Amino acid sequence: MPFVFSKEDYERRTAWYTQARFGMFIHWGLYAIPARGEWVRSTERIPSGEYGQLMQEFHPKHCDMGAWMDAAKAAGMKYVVMTAKHHDGFCLFDSAYTDFKSTNSPAGRDFVREFLEAARSRGLRAGLYFSLLDWRHPDYPHYGDLHHPMRDDPAYGNEGRDFNRYLDYLHNQVRELCTNYGKLDLLWFDFSYGELRGEAWRGTALMEMVRSLQPDVIVDNRLEVSGEGFGSLAECRPTPYHGDFVSPEQIIPPNGLRDTEGKPLVWESCVTMNNHWGYCAGDNYFKPAPMLVKKLVECVSKGGNLLLNVGPDAQGRIPGESLRILQGIGQWMECNGESVYGCGPSGTDKPDYGRVTRRGDTFYFHIFDNTIGAIPLMGLRHEDVLSIRRLADGSEVPVNRSWIYNNYPEIVFADLGPDPVLPDPVDMVLEVRVRPGAVAEWR
Ligand code: GLC
Repeated sequence: MPFVFSKEDYERRTAWYTQARFGMFIHWGLYAIPARGEWVRSTERIPSGEYGQLMQEFHPKHCDMGAWMDAAKAAGMKYVVMTAKHHDGFCLFDSAYTDFKSTNSPAGRDFVREFLEAARSRGLRAGLYFSLLDWRHPDYPHYGDLHHPMRDDPAYGNEGRDFNRYLDYLHNQVRELCTNYGKLDLLWFDFSYGELRGEAWRGTALMEMVRSLQPDVIVDNRLEVSGEGFGSLAECRPTPYHGDFVSPEQIIPPNGLRDTEGKPLVWESCVTMNNHWGYCAGDNYFKPAPMLVKKLVECVSKGGNLLLNVGPDAQGRIPGESLRILQGIGQWMECNGESVYGCGPSGTDKPDYGRVTRRGDTFYFHIFDNTIGAIPLMGLRHEDVLSIRRLADGSEVPVNRSWIYNNYPEIVFADLGPDPVLPDPVDMVLEVRVRPGAVAEWR
């Protein structure tokens, strides 16, 4: 039956996701042992046999998925996505189609099952990352491929490699994940490149199978593109394997994202805390919590989500610095989360002191830097403002009408009082309610 895109189904499927706004990405697997990032096999040209020996060392005895999920929840995250299998082909789940899996390692555990159970028990939406690439599989292109670890070695020619047999393997594993682990909220495929995109993955058959087993699941756009490119939904010609959201990577789209007809797109920026997805012992370039709070607000103010990554180590622990950052974000979210969840762009100009998010007739002015004198609430009229409150404590904030502002009668100036130091050094939020319908919604 020909594919027909249903806008109604699409909006129903993605409603929880645009409400959630903030999630945790987890990159974890054998690559935590070399501790040089998840691409170590490719960047260091490590042969399969040598890398495969790591499985016998994989015994993360300190892995407590409940603690991981507690950390995500305390940070204010509403959904979590973990690697079921990354490009190295090692499965964190008990696949019947390979021996290269965590249940065959000394750990003897199905970490995907533990992850999903721990997430669901804490009311978190849960999804799985699944690599379309598999550098372990003999039928995946080796010599001459763009990324394969043995791409430069003619001894790894592609004679006898049967890509259709590889696609059977890929589809069978996706079917296992969609069949054996309960309701999945999200599938995060990664990634298409060169000729390998769309139908080259048997995308239509794959998504028909996925949607038949998991009708409510949302899927990223990387059956068609990678972090580069947007996908067929953005081009207003959705394919059967269109992504439900665009997945910009290590960037927040400068102007948000719209499709070719100018309509807003659903998108999520995925961002690392340091500079690696998988655990990298030498990478201590962590983004501070205050910075990440502001980046989360930026995403929401532009109509997107933030999927913030952690890379647990080979012992199964989320690095201490990552935990401290998550705690710092959680302290802010505890008092200000309602200026993020279910919010989006305000439809008013970005103030130079911060950003604005909005949910219906409630605006949230995020003040990163204090102003000289009272705060101009750009885009709102005096006659439309019903109340101004400090979000964190609910306290009333008056409008300042002194002579200083007489040159700007059309602007509402919120008076934070005599102290030039903001009560929240990270992001002080004013909740401003306006008359219903007074300010045009963002489109
Ligand atoms: C890039 C990285 C991959 C990571 C993904 C997450 O594709 O190469 O390792 O899983 O980004 O977005």
